[in-house]
Amino acid sequence: MKLDDLSQWPPRRRMRRSRSGPSIRSVLQETHLSASDLIAPLFVKESATTPEPIASMPGVFRLGIRSVVDECRTLHTLGVRGVALFPCTDPSLKNPKGSGALDPQGLIPRTLAEIKSSVPGLLVFCDVALDPYTDHGHDGVLDASGTVDNDATVEILCHMSLCLAQAGANFVAPSDMMDGRVGAIRDTLDHSGHHSTGILAYAAKFASAYYGPFRDAVGSARPSSEGYLDKRGYQLNPANPREALLDALLDEEEGADILMVKPAGPYLDILTRLREHTLLPLAAYQVSGEYSMIHAAAERGWTDLPRTRLESLLAIKRAGADIILSYFTKTVAEELSRPSFSID
Ligand code: PBG
Repeated sequence: MKLDDLSQWPPRRRMRRSRSGPSIRSVLQETHLSASDLIAPLFVKESATTPEPIASMPGVFRLGIRSVVDECRTLHTLGVRGVALFPCTDPSLKNPKGSGALDPQGLIPRTLAEIKSSVPGLLVFCDVALDPYTDHGHDGVLDASGTVDNDATVEILCHMSLCLAQAGANFVAPSDMMDGRVGAIRDTLDHSGHHSTGILAYAAKFASAYYGPFRDAVGSARPSSEGYLDKRGYQLNPANPREALLDALLDEEEGADILMVKPAGPYLDILTRLREHTLLPLAAYQVSGEYSMIHAAAERGWTDLPRTRLESLLAIKRAGADIILSYFTKTVAEELSRPSFSID
């Protein structure tokens, strides 16, 4: 058959005109990524005299306080505006109540003070949850039946948030998924003069298997014989988009400044739907498992690392995120800062 004999030939609209070279592709690009979109999660460990590699997260390290400050300086120079701190707590400081979270001289408050005096312009987001401090690894305290006790936990999280605000956190970031914690934290901060400390709420956080490498990194993983810690009693069911929206919008009502979806890549639909239901800024957390999978496939030669990581971040931005927490932050910020950089 000859094309010229067909009634719909030649095509009136040739889409390939807009894709025919780097200049036209660049002019028509709809979604852009820049260093200021990215926030770097950092793992702080008191005893890390030199950066400690994390086996399941190639290129990510547990850092001592001094190295964290150096890293913050580098990130700031690259145009990154914020970091999110996660402690690797010494096991001797963990207990069932997670009381280490309330120590004003704890690892995170001291790290915060150092960052604020050395890199004052950098925003610091501090995690609010008890899992780095509890010996059982849950995000809250347990009741007599072994269930995470919502209200007792919220009370502790309010104290923890106050402690972090006093130490200079720009944002507290409750990642625990207790009910009512955003409102309670907002009230606590406002009643103690910390109205300028913001809340980045982990608004739709799913009970995901993609957190595995993070739990190794902070040492909240249990021995493999006990299996993956089950947080389905408070984190969202991956199958429930409506429930996720409902839960996220409660955080908006309670006074969150920014709503976050976590994980990011496997939950782009949640991000897009939430974008249509709120006017608040949205964040997305490209979690440890997403990072590790991209690395693992590239290490085997199955995918191209630079292209895959950029595509993974662009996809999250395209779906509606204003801010992305990603372990790729430094590498990608370096890449974007090179004059020769082209997405093409
Ligand atoms: C819990 C918390 C988790 C992560 C950060 N804080 C999840 C969990 O352990 O259930 C995961 C982040 C990642 O995987 O990169 N407060």
